Amino acid sequence: MEREILIERRFILAKVQEIAERISADYAGKEPVLIGVLKGAVFFFADLVMHLTIPCRIDFIGAASYGSGRNSSGEVRLVKDVSIPISGKPVILVEDIVDTGLTLNRIVKALRQKGPESIRVCALIDKKERREEAVQLDYSGFEVEEGFLVGYGLDYDEQYRYLPDICVLR
Ligand code: IMP
Ligand code: MG
Repeated sequence: MEREILIERRFILAKVQEIAERISADYAGKEPVLIGVLKGAVFFFADLVMHLTIPCRIDFIGAASYGSGRNSSGEVRLVKDVSIPISGKPVILVEDIVDTGLTLNRIVKALRQKGPESIRVCALIDKKERREEAVQLDYSGFEVEEGFLVGYGLDYDEQYRYLPDICVLR
């Protein structure tokens, strides 16, 4: 399949640095728990955490929507839970891309039941094209109108995650 670079790695890193500075300022004196959504957010998550200037803890959560390829069925299932306690802690959920908004809202709902002090959401890409549910994004990197994106952790049927830039599939 043909692909074209949409966001070069150097621009991704500059944006990650910017978000990390904002989070570090907002959480000064605190020790948030950053929770990455597997697997797509892993590259973004690692870059983000390494750019923070505050102490933090990290964990991961896994979600899958039935179906493969470009279209999700809308039915989201949690396949891996966090493994450290988050009750009473400030939590930052880190996601790669928000599309319909279903995955994010499902995860936030599950995390809320664990009684964190607060939950904020950070997403590298806010894709508006197919939004079905309103989502509250506290930190967002890039707004993209449309297209299917791969690279920097994002996949198409588990392919292309390894690409260093964010590309659009044609
Ligand atoms: P949502 O539930 O529709 O918001 O979709 C969220 C999930 O679908 C993300 O966590 C991604 O894993 C995947 N996804 C949505 N759009 C894209 C894309 O353009 N490329 C790769 N994965 C995507
Ligand atoms: Mg994902």
